[in-house]
Amino acid sequence: MDPLQSCRWHEFTSQSSFEQAAVRFILESAERAIAARRVFHIVLAGGHTPRNIYRALRSAVTEWTAWHVYFGDERCLPAGSPERNSGIAYTEWLGHVDIPTAQIHVIPAELGPESAAVLYALELEDVDEFDLVLLGLGEDGHTASLFPGGAWEHVQLLPAVIAVHEAPKPPRQRVTLSPERLSHTARVMYLVSGNEKRQAVTNWRAGAAIPASRIRPPAGVDIFLCIAGDLPA
Ligand code: 6PG
Repeated sequence: MDPLQSCRWHEFTSQSSFEQAAVRFILESAERAIAARRVFHIVLAGGHTPRNIYRALRSAVTEWTAWHVYFGDERCLPAGSPERNSGIAYTEWLGHVDIPTAQIHVIPAELGPESAAVLYALELEDVDEFDLVLLGLGEDGHTASLFPGGAWEHVQLLPAVIAVHEAPKPPRQRVTLSPERLSHTARVMYLVSGNEKRQAVTNWRAGAAIPASRIRPPAGVDIFLCIAGDLPA
C-alpha cells in the first residue's frame, strides 16, 4: 500500500448495493457541506461506471441551488457530444434537476487541450477546496485522464489543469485536473466496478505507483468496489 495514500476500501457484492451506497455517500457529503457553508462543490467522474449513480441522483431530495458541479476531466469532442463526460452527466442527471446552469462548470474541451486547460484553470481559481471528488479507475490504473506513462508523470510543478495529447483511451486529446488539484478536497470517492479492473485494484493494493494512487487528500480516499470474487487483502 502506498504509504502516502490512505485508502478505505468499501466492497460490495452487487451492482445495486454499490450504486445505492455511492448515492448515499454523495448526498451525505452534500448535506454536510451545505449545513456547514451553504454550498457543495463536487467534481464528477467520467466513463460509464457512474451512469446509474447519476441517474439515481435525479430523484434526490437536496438543495440543488447549493450545488456547484465541476469535472475531473473531459474528452476533446464537440460541445454537446453525448460521449463527453459532461454529456453523460447531463443526459443521466444534470439535465433533469434544478442546479443553476451557471453552477455547472463544464470544461470547454471543444477548444482543444491547451486552450481548455488554461481557461478551466482560471475558472477553478474561484473555488478553493472541493467538498467531494468522484473518480473512476481504468484497467491500466489511470484515473481522470491521468494515464500511466503520460508526460504529466515527469513534470515537477504541474498546473491545476493539464492538456493531454496521447491518451491511450480514445479520444487521444483530453483535459484533466492534476493529481494535486484533485487532491485538494475534503473527500474523494473512487467508483470501481467490473472484473476488468481486478488487476488494477490488485496492483493498487500491492502499493504500485499507479496514477490512482497519486490522489492523496488529507482525509484519505474512499474506494467503492464491486468486483466478483476475492481480492488480495
Ligand atoms: C473517461 C474517464 C476515465 C474513466 C475510467 C473508468 O474519460 O473515460 O475520465 O478516467 O473514469 O476510464 O471508465 P469506466 O467507468 O467506463 O470503466
